[in-house]
Amino acid sequence: MSDKQPLLEIEDLHVRFPLRRNLLGRPTVEVHAVSGVDLTLYKGETLGLVGESGCGKTTLGRTIVGAQKATSGSLRYDGRDLTALSRREQGASRRRIRMVFQDPFSSLNPRMNLRQIIGDPLVATGEARGAELEDRIAEMMRRVGLSPDYMDRYPHSFSGGQRQRVNIARALIVGPELVVADEPVSALDVSVRAQILNLLRELQAEFGLTYLFISHDLSVVENLADRVAVMYFGRVVELAETGALYEHPRHPYTEALMSAVPIPDPSLKGRQGRILLPDELPDPSDPPPGCAFARRCAYAEDRCRTGEIPLADGARCVRSGELDLEGIVEAESSRP
Ligand SMILES: Nc1ncnc2c1ncn2[C@@H]1O[C@H](COP(=O)(O)OP(=O)(O)OP(=O)(O)O)[C@@H](O)[C@H]1O
Ligand code: SF4
Ligand SMILES: [Mg+2]
Repeated sequence: MSDKQPLLEIEDLHVRFPLRRNLLGRPTVEVHAVSGVDLTLYKGETLGLVGESGCGKTTLGRTIVGAQKATSGSLRYDGRDLTALSRREQGASRRRIRMVFQDPFSSLNPRMNLRQIIGDPLVATGEARGAELEDRIAEMMRRVGLSPDYMDRYPHSFSGGQRQRVNIARALIVGPELVVADEPVSALDVSVRAQILNLLRELQAEFGLTYLFISHDLSVVENLADRVAVMYFGRVVELAETGALYEHPRHPYTEALMSAVPIPDPSLKGRQGRILLPDELPDPSDPPPGCAFARRCAYAEDRCRTGEIPLADGARCVRSGELDLEGIVEAESSRP
C-alpha cells in the first residue's frame, strides 16, 4: 500500500480507570487498561486487533468512537484531534466513526422495533424523518440482507446472525468512514460467522469503509485483516502485515497466540505444539518495569525486566531480532 493515507492516528494513548480515590477525589489506585498505544489506521484498510481477554481491546475501541474518555494522548482523525473537539464537532465525528458490538443479544433494546433501532441514529441527529427516514431504513435493511417487511418486529424474533445484521445496519445508516467492530462474530454459531464476515467484506467494498476489527480469534483476523496489531497488557506488542505476522511472528506473545490456533492438517503444524502460557498476568493497577510479558515468556532474560521497551521494527521485544519464532507454518507444496 504505497498510496495509503492515514485516517486515524493514535498517539501515546492512555486510558486508566480509577479503582480507589482519596478524600480530594484523586485516584490512588487505577487500572491501566490502555498504556501508551501508538497506532495509525489507513483509509480503506482492515486493521485486526488481537490479544487475550482484558488486554484493553474494547477500551481502545470505545475510546476511538468517543464512548470512553482518554486519560492522555491524542487521536487525530483526518488531521484533527478528536480529544480537543467541541461538543457539536464531537457529534459530527461520532457519525464518521461507529462501533459494532460483540453481543447482538444484549446490545439491542428489546422494547424497540427494527425501525426504531436502525433509524435511531438518524432521528437523534435530526438528519431524516417521515418518508425519507422510512426509505433510508428500508434501504439499509436491504443492504445488510434483511427484508424491510421486518421493520415492525422486535429483536426477540430474530436469530443471532440476523440481530448482528441489525447492529451493522444501525452502525452504517449514518454513513460512517471508520467502523470499530468489536468481536462481531464471537457470539455467533460457526455456521453463520462466515455469512456475517462476508457481509462486512461486501459493505467495506461498497462504502469504502475502514475497519478496526477486534477479535481474540486469530483465524478470523487472518482472513479479513490487511495488517494486525497484537495487544498485550494495554500495549501494542507487535504490528505487521497479516501474511508476515502469521508466517514469522516477531514477538514471543504472538508466537504463543499462534500456537493455539487449530490447524486441520497436522503435517502443517510446526516444530512445536501449543505453547502453554503460565497464568501470571501482571497486576493492571501496578505495571511491572520492562517487558510486561517477561513473567510468562520462555525467552526472558534479565535485560527484559528493566527500562522501557519501545516498539522497534514492528515488535516490542529486546530479543526480537535474534529469535527464530514460529508462525502458522504453511508447507510450500500446499500453497496455491
Ligand atoms: N469501566 C471499567 N472500570 C474499571 N476497569 C475496567 C473498565 N472497563 C475495563 N476495565 C479493565 O480494563 C482492562 C481492559 O479491559 P477491556 O474490556 O478493554 O479488555 P478486552 O481486551 O476487550 O477483553 P475481552 O477480550 O474480555 O473483551 C481490564 O483489566 C478490565 O478489567
Ligand atoms: S522482551 Fe524479553 S520477556 Fe519480553 S517478549 Fe521479548 S524476550 Fe520475552
Ligand atoms: Mg472486549
